[in-house]
Amino acid sequence: MMLIHDHFKPRPTDIILSTSPKCGTTWLRALNFAILNRNSYDFDNNHPLFSSNPRDLVLFFEGYIQEGGSTSFIESLPSPRLLSSHLPFSLFPNSITSSSCRFVYVCRNPKDAFVSMWHFMNKLRGRMELPPLAIEHAFDLFCNGVSLNGPFWDHVLGYWKASLESPNKVLFLKYEDVKRETSAYVRKMAEFLDLPFSADEENQGIVEKIVNLCSFENLSNLDVNKVVNKAIFHKIQNPEFFRKGQVGDWVNHLTLEMTEILDQITQEKFQGTGLSFD
Ligand code: A3P
Repeated sequence: MMLIHDHFKPRPTDIILSTSPKCGTTWLRALNFAILNRNSYDFDNNHPLFSSNPRDLVLFFEGYIQEGGSTSFIESLPSPRLLSSHLPFSLFPNSITSSSCRFVYVCRNPKDAFVSMWHFMNKLRGRMELPPLAIEHAFDLFCNGVSLNGPFWDHVLGYWKASLESPNKVLFLKYEDVKRETSAYVRKMAEFLDLPFSADEENQGIVEKIVNLCSFENLSNLDVNKVVNKAIFHKIQNPEFFRKGQVGDWVNHLTLEMTEILDQITQEKFQGTGLSFD
């Protein structure tokens, strides 16, 4: 955090894709990379998303800043920089929040976010030869806000409030909405980034090409996203970013009691904010 505060120099053109973990980071990265670079690549042929996982195309802001102990790598990226982050909005320094750089935030129904996180943690634990975490235990941690990025609900509310105060700075989206009407949200993201689709692009079906390229079905079936890379065994592996990619899988995992507890926390936390999940 100190490195970000002291050394990171925001540029007015920076775009930060923000999420709580497991809320659609991979998808958001793919969609925005494809939107931003739509004139540079052929969608059927040489597109980088065919050969790279989205995390290698849109760098993880805090990860890169910590890894080298400096910000020099991020400084060397050409503008506009497309970065991704799990940091709560409140942890960004004023230099970023008061500059004209923009945030696209995606959140997700907490029940699906929790289930996705539980599966993910157990995949990582399995690879490290640790025993799986029981869902009851993981559930208590989630409900108590034990997470690297702070409590799930506070994370969502921080960006929600920022989007209400500064709609031109923070675009607030829900995974469920994007899933239901992907094309409409691709247009919305492009407009937010001041890169609306021209009539010509609409006629060429560019929006649909982006939607199809970035779909769960397409990305999860690419070789690059199926292969485990032994050379970076300590890192998260590409296949671990893909599981089901569906809305509502929580029904297959949560007990009635867990459902009621999560719904109640969500209702209490979001009361009076205008925010809710179906
Ligand atoms: P599930 O575990 O519910 O399947 P993140 O990218 O933030 O780590 O989130 C991972 C979740 O997003 C997983 O959810 C994963 O399957 C889903 N996901 C990954 N790529 C996706 C895509 N292209 N479209 C929709 N969902 C996707």
